[in-house]
Order: sequence, then C-alpha cells, then structure tokens
Amino acid sequence: MDLEREYLLQNYSRYPLVLRRGKGAYVYDLEGKRYLDFIAGIGVNALGHAHPRIVKLIRQQAALLIHCSNLYYHEYQGALAKKLAQVSGLQRTFFCNSGTEAMEGALKMVRAHGNKTSPEKIEILSMENSFHGRTLGALSITGQAKYRKDFEPLLAGVRFLPQGDIAALESAVSERTAGIVVEWIQGEGGIFPISAEYARKARELADRHNALLVFDEIQCGVGRPGTYFSYQLTTPVVLPDVMVAAKPLACGLPLGAIVANERAAAAIGPGMHGSTFGGSALACRVALEFFDILDELMPSIERVGAYFRSSLENLARKHSFVKEVRGRGLMIGVDLDIPGKQIVLDAMARGLLINCTHDTVLRFLPPYIITEKQVDSAVKILGNLWNKL
Ligand SMILES: Cc1ncc(COP(=O)(O)O)c(C=O)c1O
Repeated sequence: MDLEREYLLQNYSRYPLVLRRGKGAYVYDLEGKRYLDFIAGIGVNALGHAHPRIVKLIRQQAALLIHCSNLYYHEYQGALAKKLAQVSGLQRTFFCNSGTEAMEGALKMVRAHGNKTSPEKIEILSMENSFHGRTLGALSITGQAKYRKDFEPLLAGVRFLPQGDIAALESAVSERTAGIVVEWIQGEGGIFPISAEYARKARELADRHNALLVFDEIQCGVGRPGTYFSYQLTTPVVLPDVMVAAKPLACGLPLGAIVANERAAAAIGPGMHGSTFGGSALACRVALEFFDILDELMPSIERVGAYFRSSLENLARKHSFVKEVRGRGLMIGVDLDIPGKQIVLDAMARGLLINCTHDTVLRFLPPYIITEKQVDSAVKILGNLWNKL
C-alpha cells in the first residue's frame, strides 16, 4: 500500500484490503482471512477463482503458445469466433483486450458505416446514465458528465437521450444517425434495465434510417443475466447489428470482442483496425473452455439469481431505507435512500465483498458458480448489518 501511494497514479480509491489468493467463490487476504466474493473482479471472475479446468488449461497453453500477434493464425481465434456466432446470432468477431477497446472498435465501425453513406451521417445516440469505458471514444458516449468533464472536447456528434424514453428516441433518430448505443441493463449506472418495447423501437428506427444498433453487453452479458446476452431476455429476440462483450470472457485474462452482423462488419476493411495483443492463443483457448463450462452453468445462474433476488427482497421489506431491488440473473442492485459506502466497508469487515455504485446502489456481481447456501451467508451478513442501522 505504501509503495502504491508513492509510485502509482493516484486515480483509484481502493478499499484497504490486500488479496493474496482465491478459491471458488472465496478470496483470502494476507492474513488468510476469508471473504465471500460477490463482486468477482467487477463481473470478471465468472467461474470464481482457481477453477480447476481453467488452471489446468492455462498451465498447458502457457507452455505451448501464449501470444503470436495477429500477423499469424493460431488454433483458437477462429473456433472462438464460431462459438460467439452460434451464441449471439451475429456473424463476425474482432478480438481486443478490454471493454473500452471493444466499444472503441464498435464506434469506429459506426463512423465508417455512416461515412460510407454520407459525410453528414455522423451522429451517435447514446443514453443518459450509461457507462461505456474510459478511452476517449467510449468516454464520449458515456452518459455521465462526471466522467467526461475533465477530458473535453470529446467526439463530436454524440447526443444523450433518457434511457427508456421511446418518444425521445423517435424524435432523435434521423438520416444523420450512424449508430444507437444501448446498455440493456445499465451496470455502473445503478442496474437499470430497458424494456423490450424500447429495444424493439430502437431496432425499427435503426433499420428505417440505416443506422447501426449497438448493444453494450460488457457488464450485463456473457451469461450474467441467465442468457448468453441480455438482448436474449425478450421473445422474440431483438438482435443488434453490433454487440460488444468483455469482462468474463477469458476468466480474468484480458479479452474483449466486437461481434457484428455482415452489414456492420462490412464497414471495416483491410488495415482499418487492429490490435497487437487482441485475441491471444491463451485468452481465446481459455474463453472456449469458459463457454463449455457456461453451457453447464446457465440453469443455475437463473435459479440462484432468482433465489438471491427474492432473498434480498424479503430482507428489503424489513428495512425502510431500501427503495428497490433490481436486476436479472446474477446482476443485482439494491437501491437505498442512504449512502452505501459504509455498508460496503462493514460487509468487508464481516467477510463479504460487494460494491456500491452511484453512492446509494449496492451492486452484486457474484461468480456464476455460487450456491444458494453462499447466497444465504451473504444475505445473513447484510441482514445483521442492516439490523444495526
Ligand atoms: C457497460 C460497460 N461498458 C464498458 C466498460 C468498460 O470496460 P473495461 O473496464 O474493460 O474497459 C464497462 C466496465 O465496467 C462496462 O460496465
């Protein structure tokens, strides 16, 4: 901690906890104290820690080939792109290393798509309260002024709309619109889902005006909602033109993906985009194994997620400072009318890791392997804390 204070950029305000190792849904600090990990590296460690199949495969692949750049082929990018096509309903993938990078590439796709039609077609519509990443492009479409204000001027042509307001969307989309970007469930914004009607209207307007519809599934996708992607929560499915994913894809190794239909993918030609690290042999092989395991876990994400939500709702009924419990699958927010920071610290002291977003929303992104018993333990810790408030 002292070294970090002296030598690191002072951009993070970390909790006072140094972690040494993890196993399953638990992590351990330097003294060996155990914590139930219900934030999972902000939604990254979907299989928990030290999953035996992932550990074995990383050992094997690290000894064979970690990285070879995108100058050459390796055995796993094609296979992983095929899997992503099967589970997403979209056709073509580009691999990168993080969520913001995936969004950055998707924005280039949107711009290139617009430019092919007309130099006027440059507008990107995004939602208020959204979060899409920290690079300049992704930041430009992040609908929270506190993240943008120090870095202006940002990308021109971005407009923010109230998430879920169909009339506002209808009046904003025009022939100048190149893309519409939506988080199906706003994560950092406080766990706010959009309605199926809103998604359908966005699809219809994007089609009518030849704009690309982009869904940001970085936090709310890849199994977390109990479906592969949150746009699959409605029937019939509302398919985007482009979907971006990252966080859990490679179980903690950096991997992001832009997955697009043929129309959107056609905007990016040879030499227009690239990455040195993106889609390494190690990360892609781990992601293939992750998807195999995810197929087996999907029913329990749905079941344990519903159990967790109803346990929190039962607890919430006994405490008037809880306004609402929201979420799908294993992405849950508890909206309070008091600050959440001290609750997070007190939970940590009692062996439960969670976090708080927007000052008052406790956020739970546990690993997909959690059991009802572990949910009971977490809810008991919270209940004991809340009884003292
Ligand atoms: C919805 C969403 N988009 C984009 C990002 C940025 O991802 P990364 O931090 O991997 O760059 C995040 C990160 O929390 C996110 O939740």
